[in-house]
Amino acid sequence: MKIAMVGSGYVGLVSGACFADFGHDVVCIDKDPGKIARLQAGEMPIYEPGLEELVRRNAMSGRLTFTTDLPAGISGAGAIFIAVGTPSRRGDGHADLSFVHAVAEEVGQHLDHPAVVVTKSTVPVGTGDAVERIIADSGTKVRYAVASNPEFLREGAAIADFKRPDRIVIGSDDEWARGVMSEVYRPLFLNKAPIQFTSRRSAELIKYAANAFLATKITFINEIADLCEKSGADVQDVARGVGLDGRIGSKFLHAGPGYGGSCFPKDTLALLKTAEDFGSPLRIVEAVVKVNDSRKRAMGRKVIEALGASDVRGKRVALLGLTFKPNTDDMRDSPSLAIAQTLIDAGVEVTAYDPEGMELAGPMMPGVAMMKDAYAAIEHADAVVIVTEWDAFRALDFARIKQLARAPLLVDLRNVYEPEDMRAAGFDYVGIGRG
Ligand code: UGA
Repeated sequence: MKIAMVGSGYVGLVSGACFADFGHDVVCIDKDPGKIARLQAGEMPIYEPGLEELVRRNAMSGRLTFTTDLPAGISGAGAIFIAVGTPSRRGDGHADLSFVHAVAEEVGQHLDHPAVVVTKSTVPVGTGDAVERIIADSGTKVRYAVASNPEFLREGAAIADFKRPDRIVIGSDDEWARGVMSEVYRPLFLNKAPIQFTSRRSAELIKYAANAFLATKITFINEIADLCEKSGADVQDVARGVGLDGRIGSKFLHAGPGYGGSCFPKDTLALLKTAEDFGSPLRIVEAVVKVNDSRKRAMGRKVIEALGASDVRGKRVALLGLTFKPNTDDMRDSPSLAIAQTLIDAGVEVTAYDPEGMELAGPMMPGVAMMKDAYAAIEHADAVVIVTEWDAFRALDFARIKQLARAPLLVDLRNVYEPEDMRAAGFDYVGIGRG
């Protein structure tokens, strides 16, 4: 089948490349000529393990092409995916749907054959109805249906998540659209991936409810971690004991500096706005957003407290890891931003190293000195802070750190190390929730 993917950002590019790998003919479309030119030259606009090779292989075979020309790109496509951004609208936190609506209008103006238009972008409940209306109003005469097919992939593990999903959600009551979507996902059907057919509105809400629930789980364990610190318990043990209950599950119970990234912060806010519009408040999610926001600066204060001086001006702190999680270069809403700012506000000198994130982080953190590797960042530091749990920081050379740093103090915001081991190595160790 020919598939058009409108929007070649994270979700669009990964999904497009994976659909091509399934054997479909995929055209990725984007308004940004620079991005399309880079993709045509085999350069990836984002860092995602395995993506470059996947794109290269499918582009070479001719199944994956890139264009800025939407009318040509959608021509003959049986499924037209909308995978453009839905950022937080400035001022109010609603999802900004202007890009989705603009694509719907352009598709409606140029659609000259029957096709299913599928929203893959994360969109508030009811957006499919609006997309359907916009296409109708733009005067199309051909048969079309609008389905919702939210994406659940994680940055850093996106290809595996796409090819081995926990579930595929297809929201449409239209039998024809369901048939087309079954064809699109046929290889995954054959692999027995669970596929849930549901209404369009339910599919739209599943996406937000899933992200809000995961954000809640993280925030819950983060607050339990705070309680562990005060009460002398260890959150690693508590999380394990809680997570072994099959009803709860052990995933997303890892305490840390607060969730960041391009999804949870924006989607929880947008869900609250939707709930407000429907007069159906989500008080738990409201609390999650507040607690997570305040946690990021609190982590900066935790580092200041660990420095142990009443005046920390002139102290030097090395941040290891800046991205919101490992295996990505994404800095959006990363806890490192608030942590660095809190330290700088207190007069601390901040150095940093991140394996992939420094290019994007540099302009966002003008007061931070970016160093060429972890040890260069650590030189003369009064504290070393693990902000992101990159594999490269899981086996640090502590003897070398002791020589380079001014003081043997490790603040481990991801609980990568064991407190006893660190003490045995002669370090003052501060973890998360390790009372
Ligand atoms: C998240 C969801 O996990 C995906 O299912 C979803 O498709 C995606 O959002 C989206 O809506 O597009 P992602 O933002 O890539 O994926 O990252 P996660 O792995 O979920 O991590 C989010 C944040 O939570 C990170 O800052 C991470 O460090 C933090 N986290 C995660 C924790 O602090 N503890 C945990 O146990 C898990």
